[in-house]
Amino acid sequence: MAYAVKALWICAKAYSSSANLGPGFDVLALAHDAYYDIVCVRETEGFKVSKVTGGWNVPKENNNAIVVAKLASEKLGIKGVDIWVHKGVPPGRGLGSSGATAAAAVKAIELLAGRALSYEEAVSIAAEGERAVSGTPHADNVAASYLGGLVAVTYSPFKVVKFGLPKINLVVATPWIDVPPSKTGEARKVLPQLVELKDAVQLIGGTALVIKSLIESDLELLGKAVMMDNVITPRRKKLIPCYDKVLEAVLSSGAYGMTISGAGPSVLIIGNERSGEAAVRAWNECGIEASFKVVKAAPGARAHPPP
Ligand code: HSE
Repeated sequence: MAYAVKALWICAKAYSSSANLGPGFDVLALAHDAYYDIVCVRETEGFKVSKVTGGWNVPKENNNAIVVAKLASEKLGIKGVDIWVHKGVPPGRGLGSSGATAAAAVKAIELLAGRALSYEEAVSIAAEGERAVSGTPHADNVAASYLGGLVAVTYSPFKVVKFGLPKINLVVATPWIDVPPSKTGEARKVLPQLVELKDAVQLIGGTALVIKSLIESDLELLGKAVMMDNVITPRRKKLIPCYDKVLEAVLSSGAYGMTISGAGPSVLIIGNERSGEAAVRAWNECGIEASFKVVKAAPGARAHPPP
């Protein structure tokens, strides 16, 4: 009987996210309902991913769910788990794919243990999964997928701020270009180590406006705020083919603004379906396949039946 209980899969679901939101590099992120992952665990000896299902094939070996499940289990007194990753968030698109897996993995371990970690503990463990994937433990995506809605993270001291679920629709548009396996790491290499004071002032001001406009559902202000990033976007847009053409098409369609979603190549558009169609058309004219989704803010990681 004890064995039968242990053999049950305990599952958690976590949504995709867009990190940075323009000026809030590594700090802000918004969880949205574009896609989601489900991670299931059951007690066993040791840690391994034994099953991968869903729309995307991710490796069973070196899966970030293993790193995260191990750390969460150590905290919660679990000896080992067998892991099942149901992958709904497309990897390598700037939509917080590894973050969604990590957030769902932490939540699944909490559910198995019957005990919750503090926000900071859970998010810092999930961020170790990001270190395994991108080389740095940025916590923006994992915080959004774990807590839901709009979040901010600070690193020294490590704090996680949850602002709730903005009541607006946005658009996520994705070019289906080839990306290197270490895409986020590559997209971080193009960034400067130091920024000038005037640029830091611009980023801090922009970050404040992004938060205010999302809380107040002020789309016009949000459009301006996401485009206040004068450090990250100008460098990273070069990695996204036809970025300026897409931006022009999106703004001509009536959108309030656009920025790179996380490390790209997807973009987050402050606009509607028409802007999504304009982005896809512009990429298609460049010979690139693309698609879009109208999204709303998504809740945090939670229990879910096995897929
Ligand atoms: N803040 C991170 C970056 C998110 O932009 O590199 C990566 O998904």
